[in-house]
Amino acid sequence: MSVDSNKKMSTAEIRSSFLDFFAGKGHTIVPSSSLIPGNDKTLLFTNAGMVQFKDIFLGDEKSNFSRATTSQRCVRAGGKHNDLENVGYTARHHTFFEMMGNFSFGDYFKEDAILFAWEYLTEVLKLPKEKLWVTVYADDDEAASIWIDKLGFPADRLSRIGDKPGKKYESDNFWAMGDTGPCGPCSEIFYDHGEHIWGGPPGTPEEDGDRYIEIWNLVFMQYNRAKDGAMSNLPKPSIDTGMGLERLAAILQGGHSNYDIDLFQNLIKFIADLSNTKDLDNASLKVIADHIRSCAFLIVDGVIPSNEGRGYVLRRIIRRAARHGHKLGLEKEFFYKIVAPLVKEMGEAYPELVKAQVTVEEILLKEEKRFAETLDRGMKILSTTIQELEGDTLPGKVVFKLYDTYGFPLDLTADIAREHNLAIDEAGFDAEMKIQKDTASSAGKFGSDYTNKLDVSGETSFSGYEKTNDSSKVESIFSDGKKVTSLKEGETGQIILGNTPFYAESGGPVGDTGKLISGSNVFDVKDTQKQGDVYIHYGIVSSGSFGTGDDVMAEVDNERRQAIVLNHSGTHLMHKALRQVLGEHVEQKGSLVTPERLRFDFSHGEPMTKAEIAEVERIVNHEIRLNAEAKADVMSMDDAIEKGAMALFGEKYGDEVRVVNIGYSTELCGGVHVKRAGDIGLFKIISEGGVAAGVRRIEAVTGEGAINWIEERSDQLENIASLVKTSAGNASDKVTQILERSRALEKELEQLKTKLATQAGSDLASQAVEVAGIKVLAANLDGADPKSLRDTVDQLKNKLGKAAVIVAAVDGDKVSLVAGVTKGETDKIKAGDLLKHVASQIDGKGGGRPDMAQGGGNNPSALPKALESVVSWVEGQI
Ligand code: ALA
Repeated sequence: MSVDSNKKMSTAEIRSSFLDFFAGKGHTIVPSSSLIPGNDKTLLFTNAGMVQFKDIFLGDEKSNFSRATTSQRCVRAGGKHNDLENVGYTARHHTFFEMMGNFSFGDYFKEDAILFAWEYLTEVLKLPKEKLWVTVYADDDEAASIWIDKLGFPADRLSRIGDKPGKKYESDNFWAMGDTGPCGPCSEIFYDHGEHIWGGPPGTPEEDGDRYIEIWNLVFMQYNRAKDGAMSNLPKPSIDTGMGLERLAAILQGGHSNYDIDLFQNLIKFIADLSNTKDLDNASLKVIADHIRSCAFLIVDGVIPSNEGRGYVLRRIIRRAARHGHKLGLEKEFFYKIVAPLVKEMGEAYPELVKAQVTVEEILLKEEKRFAETLDRGMKILSTTIQELEGDTLPGKVVFKLYDTYGFPLDLTADIAREHNLAIDEAGFDAEMKIQKDTASSAGKFGSDYTNKLDVSGETSFSGYEKTNDSSKVESIFSDGKKVTSLKEGETGQIILGNTPFYAESGGPVGDTGKLISGSNVFDVKDTQKQGDVYIHYGIVSSGSFGTGDDVMAEVDNERRQAIVLNHSGTHLMHKALRQVLGEHVEQKGSLVTPERLRFDFSHGEPMTKAEIAEVERIVNHEIRLNAEAKADVMSMDDAIEKGAMALFGEKYGDEVRVVNIGYSTELCGGVHVKRAGDIGLFKIISEGGVAAGVRRIEAVTGEGAINWIEERSDQLENIASLVKTSAGNASDKVTQILERSRALEKELEQLKTKLATQAGSDLASQAVEVAGIKVLAANLDGADPKSLRDTVDQLKNKLGKAAVIVAAVDGDKVSLVAGVTKGETDKIKAGDLLKHVASQIDGKGGGRPDMAQGGGNNPSALPKALESVVSWVEGQI
């Protein structure tokens, strides 16, 4: 197989050529995994091809193949590998990109990895050898020798890159997925784009230029790094490589920048047309073209804009795109419109994008609308601050206000500051943030990848499907992330048993709690989590001590477990009912099952009606009463699909799956369930609402929780009835009567207010100041109803004869203004000008006829000064 050098390969052709090449070398083609790493809460996003294979490298998971190849969608925004701030300013950085890779799991190592790469680049793609440059880790003589001695690669185009001063293994040629986890030395291949571009070879002071661009990274996975930095050998030396599809396409299509490739050019042209931008090199076009890819795929993979964690990163990227749209003069929401051309470019390789197009558009539009309300005002504050700034740093207070009040993420403000050659006072911002500890705090949870990982391997056998008590043995103990041999009374730590009845959190249900008991020694289990196939009991020794090898009785808190189980089985029945009532488009987007309630997010375009909610409850309660036996069988994935089992999109499943059947529901699920549907007792939906466009959230209760909830509601109704002095049955009629009466009273009050304003008007007339025969009056009618201001102005005009009047009313942060000028005087003074004069001083605007104008503003504190300035302004007009 080789490439016709006269024809430019499209991005799609390059993707298949890579996968085909490695398939020909015995690699299994594995589909790209989701951007949300399956079962790994510590890693923010899938940031490299190897993420889905992490557990295989660590020896925690077995695979059917020893060689694999993928084209993996990746996001690098937030977390250890974060490129967000470079996007738009370099030729090669993206928030979203595709990484093509080949992987060996204990099969071939350095030599074959290098030979394969060389063959693909020089024989298949026919890249000119003299354009390539190679790096190896400083002391990796073996890799250097394969390049130079085996392949004849010129030694003067091979650099050895060492550690950063004083930091062992911190090197561009030592790759790690996160602060802990699999890692190893690497060899990188660079492409020289030619002298006309600034930059130097790797390892030189000019390496950050765009001339020599890294295209392929061959990682020799050898170690697992623990939290304390200690390196241990992986079970088997392995290979992980990554080549940026976009970078390679740029070379093969004869361009330099990634943004020159077919896919980006089509997006950029679309955005340029939308915004009437003639200069296709405008950085904002690139930023938007990049950001639509990460945002669309994050939403496809189930992320929703929010104020924490992954959702907050998505929000930051959307807002950065919106701001660049604003810079291009796009005043209205526009970002969502780019989903359609993106689908055209990438839909064929990613059918999930095509399927989710409408949802993605809806979510983006909603988020843009939300931000648009404050973007304009925030930008004004920022430009004023920048104009008046002395020095070159934006104060932390302003940065925080923009963040807190106008939703400007820190990196967005930093981006704007950078365009003005300014820095931002991050320490000042942090200090403000500390004072107001709220939003985004949980984003920090994801800040360091992999911090919680324990050095464990093997498999715990789970007996919790049948039992809640089981005898077992302590296999290992951890404290502060390190293996220890014992834990004493009062110490917290993690205990791993050979077998356990404790369910570890996964797929919705939270982990079990309970006790591990060994004679008079007790370990209180506060939570159970899973790492690979190992179950970890988190807790504290409440009496005595525990040591490795101890025999224990593991006792799950049964009451709590039962409550979780009822809610969990209730979730399955409800999932099915939702599909029956709303349609087959309902797909699970998230699930949390606690002892108290179940929470379920699912795709659906609009709020559920009362009737739909009632119907779902009716169907589920009917199924409960049919009292079918719950069954669980392990079978092949193909058999499960044949049985019509519902699988969750984006979930990782093995070859063998567990299929749970409860009455009319059949789902793939590893969790614990009721014995019979009737155990659930009662099912009640307690809330239904939107989490984002296209995604709804239901909360529901079951069993005793449902009974308690209904009792509470019933008590509340009794209370209301007694407050309005009637019986529960008549409460609704009585409250309706009271509301009608209250509406009538409000109306009366309004009329009284207008009357009062009229009277105030007469008092005001006496405060007018005469300027050249015209009575000028500017007054704040504190507390007045804004609607009565026009009447007041009309009356004042009548009363004063020749007059120019402006009155204001303040309600919270909002100021309403009405100005009036008597007819004979409008040639000298226009009511609209008078209004604008005052409004402009209180962050507001307005307009109207020469004799009457209306408007408002948002800065009540500036109002007194603005009103005071009216007399001299009128003097200036005459
Ligand atoms: N995992 C390696 C990288 O991301 C290949 O560069």
